[in-house]
Amino acid sequence: MSSPPSPLAPPQPAHPANTNLAHLNPLPKSVFTLPQTAQLEALYTIIRDKETSRGDFLFYSDRIIRLLVEEGLNHLPVVKRTVETPTGAIYEGVGFEGKICGVSILRAGEAMEAGLREVCRSVRIGKILIQRDEETALPKLFYSKFPQDIASRYVLLLDPMLATGGSAMKAVEVLIEHGVPEERIIFINLIASPEGLTTFCAKYPQLKVITGWIDQGLNEKAYIIPGLGDFGERRYCT
Ligand code: URA
Repeated sequence: MSSPPSPLAPPQPAHPANTNLAHLNPLPKSVFTLPQTAQLEALYTIIRDKETSRGDFLFYSDRIIRLLVEEGLNHLPVVKRTVETPTGAIYEGVGFEGKICGVSILRAGEAMEAGLREVCRSVRIGKILIQRDEETALPKLFYSKFPQDIASRYVLLLDPMLATGGSAMKAVEVLIEHGVPEERIIFINLIASPEGLTTFCAKYPQLKVITGWIDQGLNEKAYIIPGLGDFGERRYCT
């Protein structure tokens, strides 16, 4: 007699149909994606679906943001740290090196702040507003507010959608003007276009990009395809 099926589903392997990384081949050395598992793709499928309610969009995009923030933190350096455990043993481990801060690109990037605060207690957050200049059609800085010691911090730059890369590159330019070295910035986004990644990484090759998913490309209105539409509209229902 055969044994009854195990009630536990086996761990899901990376989705065999997921060839999204082929949209950018080879991947620039500075780009890191989340492990492309079927579970992750299931989260993306929910937030891409135009029928998904706002509540579910918030819940599932927050789950992805949390994974992205954790992955971003993995790229920060550590230093040796020795502690004594309650058993009296000495443990030679590591501790965080340096201070961090988040910088969200308004308005959609603000949606990622809570995910950062959940994993980094009392993290300092800066904000930056970049919009298209009506006359030149180029990204223009409208507002920025940073911790006064930002130049000595590692910066997690937050923007959910990397489309053309225009705003993100302008944001990096402003951070560098404020004294933050390029290699101390980690740019975190949920979905990236191959075009945006290529332009961004060519301009800032030392800056690490953590993205959840690389999509097919951009349409004529610079929306990511298949994408999820306008992240701000989906999130804030405006
Ligand atoms: N911003 C969005 O919200 N969606 C896109 O597809 C591109 C930029």
